[in-house]
Amino acid sequence: LAHSHEPLEPALVFTHPSELTEHLEMLLPENSKIFILTDSHVAQHCLPYLLNENPILENVDIIEVEPGEGSKSIEIVQQLYTHLIENEADRKSVLLNLGGGVITDLGGFVGSTFKRGMSVIHLPTSLMAMVDAAIGGKTGIDFLDIKNCIGTFSSEITTLVYTGWLDTLPEEEWRNGWAEMIKHGLVADRVLWQQIKHYTMPIAPEIVAWNIRIKEEIITADFQESGERKLLNFGHTLGHALESYFIASSTPRAHGYCIAIGMLVALRLSVRHTQLALAEANEAATLLTKALLPQLAQHPPFAELVPFLAQDKKNLNGELRFTLLEKIGTGTWNIPIALFDLEKAYTEVLEALAG
Ligand SMILES: NC(=O)c1ccc[n+]([C@@H]2O[C@H](COP(=O)([O-])OP(=O)(O)OC[C@H]3O[C@@H](n4cnc5c(N)ncnc54)[C@H](O)[C@@H]3O)[C@@H](O)[C@H]2O)c1
Repeated sequence: LAHSHEPLEPALVFTHPSELTEHLEMLLPENSKIFILTDSHVAQHCLPYLLNENPILENVDIIEVEPGEGSKSIEIVQQLYTHLIENEADRKSVLLNLGGGVITDLGGFVGSTFKRGMSVIHLPTSLMAMVDAAIGGKTGIDFLDIKNCIGTFSSEITTLVYTGWLDTLPEEEWRNGWAEMIKHGLVADRVLWQQIKHYTMPIAPEIVAWNIRIKEEIITADFQESGERKLLNFGHTLGHALESYFIASSTPRAHGYCIAIGMLVALRLSVRHTQLALAEANEAATLLTKALLPQLAQHPPFAELVPFLAQDKKNLNGELRFTLLEKIGTGTWNIPIALFDLEKAYTEVLEALAG
């Protein structure tokens, strides 16, 4: 059966807080209960400003979780459902997810499943969430150390991006979001790549909006990830396995870091399997290494990643399928890769990084 293409509401990008206020006032129904889900960092850096600027949020119910990937868990989901029930949330209640990708993934999952779906508005505060996690309706939590093992595709979520939140974002988190912007340039937009490769922080709101457009265009063509949306998985097959490994061994590493390693591996595979020019692979690898990997972690031997690779959602009949590049700006997907070839590329990347 072909998947239906659900309409996706485009995210709105604002640079002035009054625009956010205006839209919140339009979107929040009178007399409905409003909940804000956030983490304790964002509660400190962004929440007071949001509440000050928006009198409509005066009686809001604030739910705070610990920052970090650990909050994307079934235990926290249970606590959130319990809180919503105890505080009489109904399907007309609104859940505002104020935070990075952890909060938008977690809150998106809770909101899209509670009573079969309550109103959800994402207010992404990290670069990663603005250009990626809060765009496109994918929600999810981790389970048994497997990244994003349980989740939904929801076309009901509204995303309001106020770029002013980025003022307080720590440098490492900038880097994280940058990883996904580099990915967008590599798989879909050579012109963006030309811009992004020379970019320094802070990143301009127009570049944020450009990245959102790229992701939305891909998703509009393929909401349920049966084809083109797999472009967005560039670097994510190995990257997610590595991230899952780090989570399982209680030494979590940033998503952007793991994806950068995954992209370095995918570049080598692209040269061998999809005719990416070596010069282009080297150009991309140089930027990824310089921008995203300033402090290298201890990387596990390949064998430790194999159980996590087996869980990749793109696998077909037990075979690994990769998103690779034909040239910078043009990606391709569903390329079968043997474990042996992947191990070779991963080992080479680690040697080059150590080198
Ligand atoms: N659903 C999707 O399509 C999708 C896509 C990409 C990533 N993700 C998920 O997103 C998550 C990563 O997102 P992330 O990198 O935003 O992580 P995160 O949510 O953990 O945020 C990173 C850190 O930055 C802090 N922070 C966020 N905004 C801040 C601000 N304005 N000022 C100061 N501190 C701030 C947070 O408290 C946290 O400590 C992962 O779980 C990943 O799986 C989902």
